[in-house]
Amino acid sequence: MSKTNSPSELNKATATSKKDSSTEQNSNIVELNENSSCQLNSNIVASNENQSPIFISYRQGGVRYEDILSKDADPLKLEFEENILISADKIWDQLATTSKFNYINFKSIYCDDNPVNLEIGIGNGEFLAHIGSSNPHENFLGLEVFKEVFLKAASKIRKQELKNCRVVQFDTALIVRLIEDNYLNSIYVNFPDPWPKKAHKKRRLLKTHFIDQLASKLKIGGTLYIATDHDDYAAEIAENIVDAKQLKSEYDSVYVRNITDYFHTKYYRKFVSTDGAYFFKYKRI
Ligand SMILES: C[S@@+](CC[C@H](N)C(=O)[O-])C[C@H]1O[C@@H](n2cnc3c(N)ncnc32)[C@H](O)[C@@H]1O
Repeated sequence: MSKTNSPSELNKATATSKKDSSTEQNSNIVELNENSSCQLNSNIVASNENQSPIFISYRQGGVRYEDILSKDADPLKLEFEENILISADKIWDQLATTSKFNYINFKSIYCDDNPVNLEIGIGNGEFLAHIGSSNPHENFLGLEVFKEVFLKAASKIRKQELKNCRVVQFDTALIVRLIEDNYLNSIYVNFPDPWPKKAHKKRRLLKTHFIDQLASKLKIGGTLYIATDHDDYAAEIAENIVDAKQLKSEYDSVYVRNITDYFHTKYYRKFVSTDGAYFFKYKRI
């Protein structure tokens, strides 16, 4: 994504991107030592940055995520290159041969018991790097489908040497299913793609069932943060979130229009008018 991409250009680029599994290279992955309980000692080298981006499930309809979880299966292997990033092709390789996966083993990823937080749609990773560096005793997982910005985010994490942050290039809809219930400390969704055209609204991420799913992944007392500048999407989120029985607003209202201590992401700077954005902060009850 170049600096001049509008959200609709971004959406178009995201939705039309394709995976070419024939270009995938596995030879540079060093398997984890079976005796090793965490990944910090693994010696995984960086992948070829020219590998193709991914299919988007809602567009292609090829992969069904609903039945992906099995507690009898092995976990999805998240072998982070440089202990920072995993590209979509490494996940597609696994999906090509395996249809069931167990929950993600976060302890083996971060090698500690610190609380885990999730950011969905990290873009260039500014927010992730900010919360990661501000909270060194917590862990952060960032998800992003679009390869170009995902690599920018990875680069930020690398430059700032944030050992508590990892980024995954994949669709949130799959990854979230593989997170244990009652697990996450917090979830951030900053400026999700608004899909402004009427015909595209069904592609919006924050539907009722997805909000319920996010709520169930939070531990009791955990927090779901959502920010959007888009009036119509805000109204839809408001309608959906009040139905979520496991969530309670931390504000006296469904959302607030202005908060002073929120970190300004690229999309915040780009799209928030003087009227401010819509901020949702919901506690898992
Ligand atoms: C409008 S941008 C906002 C980026 C960033 N949060 C910010 O505030 O600057 C939305 C981001 O979500 C990503 N995205 C959209 N659908 C996604 C999905 N299903 N899983 C992961 N990322 C997604 C897009 O590629 C894009 O980078």
